[in-house]
Amino acid sequence: MVNAQDILSLCKRRGFLYPSFEIYGGVAGMYDYGPLGTALKNNIIDMWRRLYTLGEGFIEIDSETIGPEAVFKASGHVDEFADKMVKCKVCDEPYRADHLVDDKHPNAGALNEEELDKLIRENGVVCPACGGELSTVEEFNLMFKTIIGPGSGRVGYMRPETAQGIFVNFPHLYRYNREKLPLGVIQVGRGYRNEISPRQGVIRLREFNMMECELFVDPEDKSWPRFNNIKDDILRLLTNDGRELEISVGDAVAQGIICNEVLAYFLWLTQEFLEAIGVDGDRLRFRQHEKAEMAHYAADCWDAESLLSYGWTEIVGIADRGCWDLSRHIRFSGADMTAFKRFDKPKEVEKDSIKPRYDRLGPAYKSRAGKIGKIMEAADPATIQNGTLTIEVDGEMISLGSELFEVVRVKEKISGEKVIPHVIEPSHGLDRITYTVLEHVYTQREGQTLMKFPPAVAPIKIGVFPLMARDGLDEVAMKIEENLRLGGIETYYDDSGSIGRRYARMDEIGTPWCLTVDYQSLEDGTVTLRERDTTKQIRIPYAGIFNVVHEALCGEDLSAFEVASE
Ligand code: ATP
Ligand code: GLY
Repeated sequence: MVNAQDILSLCKRRGFLYPSFEIYGGVAGMYDYGPLGTALKNNIIDMWRRLYTLGEGFIEIDSETIGPEAVFKASGHVDEFADKMVKCKVCDEPYRADHLVDDKHPNAGALNEEELDKLIRENGVVCPACGGELSTVEEFNLMFKTIIGPGSGRVGYMRPETAQGIFVNFPHLYRYNREKLPLGVIQVGRGYRNEISPRQGVIRLREFNMMECELFVDPEDKSWPRFNNIKDDILRLLTNDGRELEISVGDAVAQGIICNEVLAYFLWLTQEFLEAIGVDGDRLRFRQHEKAEMAHYAADCWDAESLLSYGWTEIVGIADRGCWDLSRHIRFSGADMTAFKRFDKPKEVEKDSIKPRYDRLGPAYKSRAGKIGKIMEAADPATIQNGTLTIEVDGEMISLGSELFEVVRVKEKISGEKVIPHVIEPSHGLDRITYTVLEHVYTQREGQTLMKFPPAVAPIKIGVFPLMARDGLDEVAMKIEENLRLGGIETYYDDSGSIGRRYARMDEIGTPWCLTVDYQSLEDGTVTLRERDTTKQIRIPYAGIFNVVHEALCGEDLSAFEVASE
């Protein structure tokens, strides 16, 4: 297996990735994408976006990366988004406690502080840097805190996931979708986590790129219309009771291994996507989280993991977030984040309802009275205890005596009911995915590096060379190159060194085709087209070259265009 250092040095040399701020010594957990890395990443994003928008009919938004504290109090991140940390008592170096005992437990990420502490002490684990004794395990919150506005402005946070930007916009998006479920919304953008000790290249960054989808579904209907088309396809699963299975998507749901069709469909879609961009199916599996390992919001969660030189690594998390996020935003903001589920025919119902006494709430709570009243109206009378109603407003618990409300019996005809949608979330870590592609397409051929990118994600699609930079060959080659480039195909013009060297340079950055203009081209208007993986060369007329490359990019067989083999 390739080692990460080889990949990272290729990435630096050829312009895929650069350590950020290198001239100042760099910062752990921060990388910049160079020209080829940016192109590769953008191509991956394009494929993902198309799959979700054109393929699934989902919509895309682009929300703020900084948010006010209330959002992340509601989402649970301010209080719960933490990793377990130990520090060296001698050199003060911080470590993620679970990572230090990864080789001592099958799933150290699922252990609590005491269990980790015990494992560290029992195994005599010491500071990997200086051999010093380690502190006891404590929680470290990963949120980057900031201040919005000058002076003592409002506390804000950099988003740790793009998802909250979608949740807080749910009412707008639901209306945009003409109040229908399912509603799929995607977002591509940066997330920020103050990781304790980022050490593995782009696997653990402090600022990273995410492609997230939040799919809002009816909580009682987690079936999926296209499920039948894919139910016979095979997934490789590692369940949280330790079974490793190759099983059809349909059987995984029928046997209750994956809890519903929607979640299963998106495991399948994730696999399709990853394989299409160059992830090796034999080095891909889905691992179910243990209950104790699950994020605070998740009801079930599967990670797509790829086998890298670092070991099995999570690259996508696919979670059933239930109604966690919308319920919390309802509680914290008072906004209506429900969907309306229409009955087949209207029903008459009688029910108790809380009626706030606004004449008394006003003097007691001044400008907050309106918001408090709204939350009271939505509250369930069954929660009243000893005549007191307790509600949560902006994270604060407020107890309201019976003088501030009445409970009235109301009859109503209802055509449907409000439900809080459930959310299925495929969350893709773009940097880890891009890095996986780099490792999985890396090949050696006769001592030369060959990056076997699928053409759609290759940063450069075609190298264009004149055999010699003279005799008019260069002019023809430049014309062809311009024609392709202006038509939207990424090209690289190269007229220096031997043709063999030029092929090798293109192979090393994964360019799928190279076109050479030679003396025969001047006579009969044909050029050679060389295919990267087979090194096969065919002769084709250059007049229609744009269409040929376009067809090749769509996966068409080029032999139809061939006039004569070399
Ligand atoms: P880990 O357990 O490795 O810290 P996580 O479970 O916290 O990851 P999620 O919260 O599920 O990760 O985030 C969704 C996706 O974002 C992950 O599948 C991963 O690909 C990516 N991701 C998470 N944290 C980072 C990071 N620090 N750097 C790069 N990518 C990340
Ligand atoms: N949105 C998924 C995550 O951050 O875990």
